[in-house]
Amino acid sequence: MKLEKNTRVYIAGCGGMLGEAVYEYFSPRTTVKATDIDVNTDWLSYADVRDYWAMDEDICEFKPDLIINLAALTDLEYCEQNPDDSWATNALGAENVALIAGKLDVPHVYICTAGIVDGAQDVYNDFDKPNPLSIYAKSKYHGEKFVQRHLKKHFIFRAGWMMGGGPEKDKKFINKLFKQLQAGQKELFVVDDKLGTPTYTVSFAEGIFKVVETDLYGLYNQVCGGDCSRYDVAVEFVRMLGMENEVKVTKVSSDHFKAEYFAPRPPSEKLVNFKLNARKINFMPDWKDALELYVERFK
Ligand SMILES: NC(=O)c1ccc[n+]([C@@H]2O[C@H](COP(=O)([O-])OP(=O)(O)OC[C@H]3O[C@@H](n4cnc5c(N)ncnc54)[C@H](OP(=O)(O)O)[C@@H]3O)[C@@H](O)[C@H]2O)c1
Repeated sequence: MKLEKNTRVYIAGCGGMLGEAVYEYFSPRTTVKATDIDVNTDWLSYADVRDYWAMDEDICEFKPDLIINLAALTDLEYCEQNPDDSWATNALGAENVALIAGKLDVPHVYICTAGIVDGAQDVYNDFDKPNPLSIYAKSKYHGEKFVQRHLKKHFIFRAGWMMGGGPEKDKKFINKLFKQLQAGQKELFVVDDKLGTPTYTVSFAEGIFKVVETDLYGLYNQVCGGDCSRYDVAVEFVRMLGMENEVKVTKVSSDHFKAEYFAPRPPSEKLVNFKLNARKINFMPDWKDALELYVERFK
């Protein structure tokens, strides 16, 4: 489908770190309605993906040509402790939005996560079999499977360690490091036994737009190039902030954080964009180049 100014795009769960980038990419180019349960800016309105009937009314009233669902509970520990909410949002919510896209017969974009693998192998392409370990991963994988089975016109993008949203919206690793630095911490303890692929929201949003325009429906790994440990990312972040002489980054094993981060996580969730590369539609930069751009928001 050609995405033009008169193309109507409904985006659920648009108030988060990825939502910011998707809104910024799509809103100058298409006609967007952006919703979330966390109405944290003036371009958002309220809609809850757990509520099928309210969602149906909100989406149908807008008459979209494309529906993007970004809504999720992304805190793994919260999901582990609140499985019902996790299933209602990440699995049932995904079903709800997909059912509406099916009813309206419009293309649908769903975002899944690299975290659905078990880490038994080092790196995963788009065809490797997931084996989710945590409630978060299980509920997200259910959403992916439902979208895949129920809708012909679907795009599923699997993301890795998300980087985006800046100091205000980033709920993940980079901002957790930044908050420690802001608090004056001179030593950061970071695990080196968790491997993955960072995923820059700004490039990811551009990727969604351009891949949707190809009409090449299906499931895609969409992560930055290169792979790394959490420790590697922390070392680069501190260096790019110019703080490498003041702040020491110390390697620890996951055991160090086992009380705080108790949800099961795979030792490796490294993805490779096998299909995007093969189809020559990979718009993701290498992770260090992406981090170089992203770090500007923390200076
Ligand atoms: N963050 C990552 O590292 C990562 C990695 C891979 C894939 N993903 C996927 O990427 C997508 C976007 O996530 P993100 O990284 O932007 O996370 P995020 O910042 O947490 O954004 C998700 C948004 O969805 C909202 N939401 C939660 N429950 C909802 C509901 N019932 N109805 C409507 N909105 C709801 C959240 O609101 P609250 O803030 O109030 O919860 C939040 O604003 C999700 O599908 C996520 O699973 C994320």
